[in-house]
Formats: sequence, C-alpha cells, structure tokens
Amino acid sequence: MYTNYLVIGSGVAGLTYAVKMAKKFPQKTITIVTKGNKDESNTKYAQGGVAVVLDKSEDSFRKHIQDTLIAGDGLCNTDVVKMVIKKGPKRFKELIKLGTSFDTDENGKFDLGKEGGHSEYRVAHHKDITGYEIERALLNGVHKLPNITFLPHHFAIDLLTDHHLSEKENLSCFGAYILNQKNNKIFTIKSDSTILASGGIGSVYGHTTNPEIATGDGIAMAYRAKAKIKDMEFIQFHPTALYTSEKGPAFLISEAVRGFGAYIRDKKGHRFMLNYDARNELASRDIVSQSIDKELKKTGDNCVYLDCTHLNIESFIKHFPNIYQKCKGLYIDISKDWIPIVPAAHYLCGGIEVDAHGKTSIKNLFACGECTRTGLHGANRLASNSLLEALVYAHNIYKYHTENSTKSNLTIKIPNWNDKGTQITKEHILIQHNLKELQAIMQDYVGIVRTNYRLEKAKIRLEIIYKDVEELYKKSKINTTLCELRNMINVAHLIISQSIKRTENRGGFFNTDNLKK
Ligand code: FAD
Ligand code: SIN
Repeated sequence: MYTNYLVIGSGVAGLTYAVKMAKKFPQKTITIVTKGNKDESNTKYAQGGVAVVLDKSEDSFRKHIQDTLIAGDGLCNTDVVKMVIKKGPKRFKELIKLGTSFDTDENGKFDLGKEGGHSEYRVAHHKDITGYEIERALLNGVHKLPNITFLPHHFAIDLLTDHHLSEKENLSCFGAYILNQKNNKIFTIKSDSTILASGGIGSVYGHTTNPEIATGDGIAMAYRAKAKIKDMEFIQFHPTALYTSEKGPAFLISEAVRGFGAYIRDKKGHRFMLNYDARNELASRDIVSQSIDKELKKTGDNCVYLDCTHLNIESFIKHFPNIYQKCKGLYIDISKDWIPIVPAAHYLCGGIEVDAHGKTSIKNLFACGECTRTGLHGANRLASNSLLEALVYAHNIYKYHTENSTKSNLTIKIPNWNDKGTQITKEHILIQHNLKELQAIMQDYVGIVRTNYRLEKAKIRLEIIYKDVEELYKKSKINTTLCELRNMINVAHLIISQSIKRTENRGGFFNTDNLKK
C-alpha cells in the first residue's frame, strides 16, 4: 500500500497533524494506523487540561516560561520553551474552532484551573475529562475528511528504512511494516513521510496511570532504526493516583484537585508537604512524588491521602464529576472520607529527539507528542504542558511539509516481511511471565528513587529477559503482545542505561548515590 503521509497513532498529536495535512493537501492521501480502537490513547484520559496563557491581564508568557523552566530543573531548551508557550494560544484557539469545548464561567471567560508548579491559574479544561473531549472533536474532524484513511486495529511493527542497503549514517524512512490485528496479515505501507505519534511508555511500569496501549512502540521502533533517543531517565511519577486493589491502569486524581485546594495528609492527618516545599501541595510533581515516596518508606504505609473534606462539595462535583463518581463507586464519599493515593508512572519527559520542526535524525521520519524529546520538559514536565506541546509540534510539522518537499525515492527495494520458518507460538506463558517480571523490575529497581546497585541489578535481569524474548521473537509468527513486550524491553533498556549514565540528580531523576558525590 502507498500513501503520501503515514501517521502512526491517533491521540492528540497524530490526529491534529492528520487534520491539518488533509485540509491543506486535499489531493494527497493521509493514512492513520492505530493499534486499538480509534480513540484509545493517553489523550483520551487527560484530565487537568491544556496549560495556556489566555488572559494577559492576569498571566503572562514570561510567567508560564519561568514556571516551565523551574519545573524542568535546568535541563529545558529555553528557545523551545519560549516557542511552545508563545504559539500555544493560537493552537488552542484552532482546537476550539474544530469543535472542542472548554469550560467557561458565568461571564463567558475561560474557567482556568491551577496545577503543581504553576504560579497562575492557566489550565483550560473540559470538566475533568479534557482529553476525552479533545479526542472526540479531533476524531469528528478526521471523519469529515475524505482523503484520510483510518486503519484502527493496525499495529506498526517496524519502520521501513534503507539500513539493509548500506550501513550509512544518513538513513531515510519509507514507511512501516503493519500488522492487521484482525486477520494477522503483515503488509507494508510506503510513504513519502512518516510521523510517529505513538505516545508514552507507562505500561513498562507495573503501576501506571496510562492505558495498556502505552508500551513505547514508537520509541522502540525509532531506536531499532537508529534514530537518536534522549532523556529516557526522566520518568514523571504522578503523585496522586488512586490507591486501590483493582488490577490494571491506576485511576488518576487530577492535580487540579490540589489546585482546587485539597491537602495531602499521612494516615495520622499530618500535612507533610509543608515540611518539603514552600509551595506545599502545589510544588511540582517531581517534588511531591519524591516526598510521598520518602514518607511511605519512613512509615511503611501503602498510601497517603488526599483530603477534600473542607472544600465546597457542590463546586467540587461541578468541576470534577468523573473523579467524584469514581470515588463514590468505591464507597469513598469525598465530603467525609480522605481519598487514598499513591504515586504512579505517568509521563515520559524524554523520547525520540526532534528539532523544532519535529524532524528526527532519520530523513522523512517525524515524531510528535509524548514519544518525543523536544527540549520543552527538561528533567520534569510542568503539569498540562504535554497536550500543548503536541498541538504546537503537530502544527510545526504540518508547516514544514507546506514549505518543504518530502518526496521519498520509493523505487528503492524494500523487502517484504519475511516470516519463513516461524510458527504460531504456544509459549504465551513465556510472554506473560516476562512481562510481569519486566514490570516488577522497573517498578522496584527503576522507580522514583534509584540507586546504582538496583540499576545494575535491573540491567542484569533485563538482559536475561531480552535474550529469552528475542529467541521467541525470531521463531514465532508475530502477534501484538509479543511485539509490545519486545518494545517495552527496548524502552526499559534505554531507561536503565540512560539512568546509569546520569551522575547528577535533576527534576524527576533521583539516585541516592548521586548525593554522595
Ligand atoms: P497518545 O494520546 O497516547 O496516542 C498514541 C497513539 O498511538 C494511540 O492511538 C496508540 O494506540 C497509538 N499507537 C501506539 N503504538 C502503536 C503502534 N505500534 N502501532 C499503531 N498505533 C500505535 N497532559 C496534559 O497536558 N494535560 C492533562 O491534563 C493530562 N492528563 C493526563 C491524564 C492521564 C491519566 C494520562 C495518562 C496522561 C495525561 N496527560 C495530560 C498526558 C497527555 O495526555 C499525553 O502526554 C498526550 O495525550 C499524548 O498524546 P500523544 O498523541 O502523543 O499520544
Ligand atoms: C492531571 O490532571 O493531574 C494530569 C495533568 C498532566 O499530566 O499534565
């Protein structure tokens, strides 16, 4: 199959880019492949909203830039921070024009929320289901455009590059190998330009706010294709994931709830954040998560608590209906009960290195959204800056395509997928066992607080899993779970090896051995 523009992923990054390209180039074809249902993505679960400066009488670019730089702990690219924040309002307004609805007050002004690390109220939201609303509007936009072909339940396995022709440094991308998850057939999609918009990596950790699709596929594919990958050690742990005995992704209690006035307490009722940071509960995420982790290690407790009992309950329900209902379903009456919470893996600050046009180090391969390392987040992302980043970079990549030709040499011989000699695996237990082990290693040895000893142990154990799974991969017919596990192993390798190399603590990265230096 051939398409002009191949988009891998259907969250905010992929869909925003696809809509813009399809409108600008009605004669060209855009193909979106996504591995699950059309809307399944991290985007769909975003709660707090989009951080954006909308009212310059109360906020300023300068303050948003400053807050982002402080959160990033000295590792942001200042030019990128300025660019994203200044372009934010325009991109936000385009989202509204597309049909996304954001909450307003009785005077018609945006009802802006506040989150950790923000010095002003600047988070535009749709109740506590902002991502759901954005995804809805974007999908609606996509469905109106006849030159977009949407292929849900199609899994991108690997990128097509010219690596098999030569070992040259300057590789180009020509599309991807795709698995149709319904009939298990593998085919190639050749394209002039390919964009990875494949999202995050939360599933690499056992305990995460991300949905199960967040397996870092795009990063692993790019890594195998020899693209530059950076800052993988900076995993952001969200401080307030709901603590339950339920299996699967952890439900998020939005940081906006703390912006609304909730307190964090230990089981005795002590507001311990007062001992850690002058911003108390509204310190940036890295600080709050590390403080909770310290308290839990000290007390041996399983969780701490979010106290909303002093807040106006009617107003709370209006702002956070989804969170209220979720708690109610678990018999937590937030007007009387504290909400049990614990940090969970939430966001990857690093990823595929891109420039301001979203270009990767491979020709005709672009990347956008959570799978990228743009330089905006540095060592720790400021809350609600990622939807903003995806909107701005989707536009920049689109703009680049309007000003530059990306025509590929598609006469190049790309081999078809070769699975000669492989068999349908009967070893599902091996896949499941290795997945559990991988997640346990990452959770226990490569979590909020790391040590050299634990990182070295993680490296050794990962090597065993890697060999096991590579062996299985070579002799098996491809299936989604096996590919995802292989990708997660690649991602874990990048996180561990880049963590071992980092010798100073910054933002979301904390290794106790670095304190001794
Ligand atoms: P995603 O939205 O994750 O989309 C990735 C897409 O790629 C999915 O469609 C997936 O199926 C597809 N895909 C992946 N691998 C493959 C493959 N191999 N083949 C085919 N398709 C593939 N950020 C904010 O700014 N504000 C918030 O309030 C906020 N709240 C959040 C709350 C939660 C619970 C979570 C989990 C995240 C939150 N974030 C928030 C972060 C933000 O939602 C994400 O960073 C952002 O939505 C990522 O968008 P994306 O398009 O890059 O990736
Ligand atoms: C939240 O609502 O707490 C999540 C915001 C984010 O991850 O940016």
